[in-house]
This record gives sequence, C-alpha cells and structure tokens, in this order.
Amino acid sequence: MNHFAYHGGELHAERVPLRHIAERYGTPCYVYSRAALEQAYREFAAAFAGREHLICYAVKANSSLALLNLLARLGSGFDIVSGGELERVLAAGGDPGKTVFSGVGKTAEEMRRALAMGIFCFNVESESELLRLERVAAESGTVATISLRVNPDVDPRTHPYIATGLSQNKFGVAHADVLRLYRKARESRHLAIAGIGYHIGSQLTELAPFVAALDRVLELVGELAANGITITHVDIGGGLGIRYRDESPPAFAEYARALKARLGAAPFRLLLEPGRALVGNAGILLTRVEYLKRGAAKHFAVVDAAMNDLMRPALYDAYHEVRQVVTADGSAEVYDIVGPVCESGDFLAHARKLALREGELIAIMSAGAYGMSMSSNYNTRPRAAEVMVDDETAHLIRAREAVSDLMSMERLLP
Ligand code: LLP
Repeated sequence: MNHFAYHGGELHAERVPLRHIAERYGTPCYVYSRAALEQAYREFAAAFAGREHLICYAVKANSSLALLNLLARLGSGFDIVSGGELERVLAAGGDPGKTVFSGVGKTAEEMRRALAMGIFCFNVESESELLRLERVAAESGTVATISLRVNPDVDPRTHPYIATGLSQNKFGVAHADVLRLYRKARESRHLAIAGIGYHIGSQLTELAPFVAALDRVLELVGELAANGITITHVDIGGGLGIRYRDESPPAFAEYARALKARLGAAPFRLLLEPGRALVGNAGILLTRVEYLKRGAAKHFAVVDAAMNDLMRPALYDAYHEVRQVVTADGSAEVYDIVGPVCESGDFLAHARKLALREGELIAIMSAGAYGMSMSSNYNTRPRAAEVMVDDETAHLIRAREAVSDLMSMERLLP
C-alpha cells in the first residue's frame, strides 16, 4: 500500500493532507508514516519466518526516538555505531539484549557503557579493537560477547562512498586474519565468541553480491568449525536497496528466499541489520518554494530546505523524486530544485519538469532514511521539525530547532 498518495488532488501522508502539516508545523519538515514503517518491519520479519533470526534495525538510517520506539514495540533489535546511538536506543525503550554494536572506532568509554548495559554483541572490526575490548571487559569484571566483522571482498555494485565490503575499504577483518583472531578471542576469559558477520554496502539492488558474501562467510564458518570454534549466529548486515526512481531492488521475500536457500539447515541464528529498507520509503521531506528564478542557462526553484536538511543529493548525487503537494495545471518548465545554502552543490534535484508557483509546497520523496540523521546546521540553519502521521493524526516527534538552541553551547572569550 502506498502511504503517500494523492486524494482529491492533494498529496497525503496516510489520511492527513501534507498541506495541513505545513500550515501547522512549518517547513522544511520531515513527515513519516507510521503505517509505512510498521508494514515494512512486519513484511521484513515475515520474509524470514521459519528461520531463527533477529532484526537489528540500523539506527543510523533514522534515529528519531519515536521511530525507534515504534520498532522496539514491534520486537526489533538495534544495530548501533556510537555511544550516542546506544543512549537513543535506551531512551526509546529498546532492548540492549537485542542490540549489536558495529563500527571501526569504538572508544573504551563506549565499550564500558555498552557492557554495563548488557548489549548482545560487539561486532569487532580489528585486532586492536579486540584487544581493547578484552581489556575493558576485564577491568569491568565481565565478559564481552563478540562477532568478528569480516571483509568478504565482494563488489556490491553501488555508489563507491557506500560500498564497504571491498578489500580496499576500512571495514572488517581480512580473511587471512580471521582464524588467528578467533583463536585469540577463544583464549580470553573476558571474550565470548558468538558470531561472525559482514556488511558489504548500502542501496544494493541485486541479490548476487549478498549471496556471494554469504557463501564466502559460510566457508569461513566451516573452517572455524574445523578448528573447534563454534559460531552461533551469522550477521549479514544491511544494505538492501529501495526504489528511489526506477530501481527494482529484490522484494523482501526474494531476498529472504535467496539467503535462506544458501543457509539451508545450518544451525545458527541469522542477524540482519536493515536500515534504509525499513524506513527509506516511510518518510518525505516537505518544503516550500520561496522563489522561482530564471537564470540564463537554467530555471531554479529555490526552496526552504537545503543540503543541510537532506545531504544525499549533494553527497552522492542521489536521486529523490519531487512531487507537488497540490496537483497543478499550467505550463511545466524544467527546474533545478535548490536550497538557500551558499554552495553550488546545494541542490535537492536536477532538471525536473514541474508547473511550479512561488509559495507552493513540494515533497521530496523517499527521505525517511539518511535524511534527518545526516542533517547539519550548516549556514546556521535550525534543523527541520519531524512529524509522524498515524492514520488521521499528525504527531510532532521533534520540534524545529531555534537559533538559540544552535548557539546555546557556545561561549565568548572573557
Ligand atoms: N549495518 C552496518 C554495519 C552499516 O554500516 C549500515 C549502513 C547498515 C547496517 C545499514 O545499511 P542499509 O540497510 O541502510 O543500507 N548515508 C548513505 C548510506 C550509508 C550506509 C552506512 N552503513 C546514504 O544516504 O545512502
């Protein structure tokens, strides 16, 4: 079901006209659909039914407390990459016992806090990290459960900035070191081996790289077993893509079928770290056209959202569909949709044919993942408000920042 659709010529989030949200909460504003989020989670979980699994939603995709709380209520676990994300999971009522900690740069302090909160597993990315974790666990008089993140050296065929499983990427442990590090872990009284894992990249639209990575890691699991090291879970990371434009990523069921077929009856639990696939199409960025500007070579629609609100176009040249909130007649022109930030890279869309008027609202679609979570205050722009729609009710889940919030941490010299 499409949760962002036109009814009577107006774009709605579920049963709420986006125009009403803009009038009440202002723009720019992120708008999420609770039904879209819950449907995605339930479909994803259903696809893996019949196989013991744990979904650890990748918090970085969208770390709004309200959204984390809804996922926690559905039984989701979490994949975190910082102490900050851990605190968000706790504040949202998430279960630390279903939380895995990924990332190449965990500090001792983050480890201590995660151990004290009893997280399920540390996804360890290097030998130095393993040694540090052992020391921190020993000092805390506890045992850290670990999984090594291996680098399967598989090409995910996605944007180079979001490919992570190639040997030249900073992520994971090289194959050649895996056995040695597990042996080291086995010798420690403060480390408990649970799993093995990987994450090869994001916005993948084909199954083949997922299957190739799993095959490589299953080989490793066999090798470890031959050396007396038992793995109880395999964490296959996230990365499943969504449709932004005309991509046709595998459906959840297809993705699950391919992976389940490869796993066969292997006795371990499957961990999954989806981010974008759960939230990407559950949110939009609502913005207003401030000016229509006719340049010598191009026409521009200057809107009140900018690269600081949604960085993906500027950073990856990512495509997001642009829709008019109220369908308009009139002659369409080709516009670049740009923000007020003082950089030529500040665009939300290039060359879109639309019949725009100054003052009207547009929706930047598929902005639920890596939108608000990557936003900044560049140009001293307060961050957008966030609204979660539930059927015919719009809930403000994060107030728009005020400029005074932005300056509140700063001090002048005496
Ligand atoms: N697990 C790990 C260890 C990750 O690093 C990531 C994402 C995920 C899971 C979730 O991946 P997903 O299912 O969302 O593809 N900012 C970029 C995406 C960066 C992804 C970083 N890691 C974007 O806007 O496209």
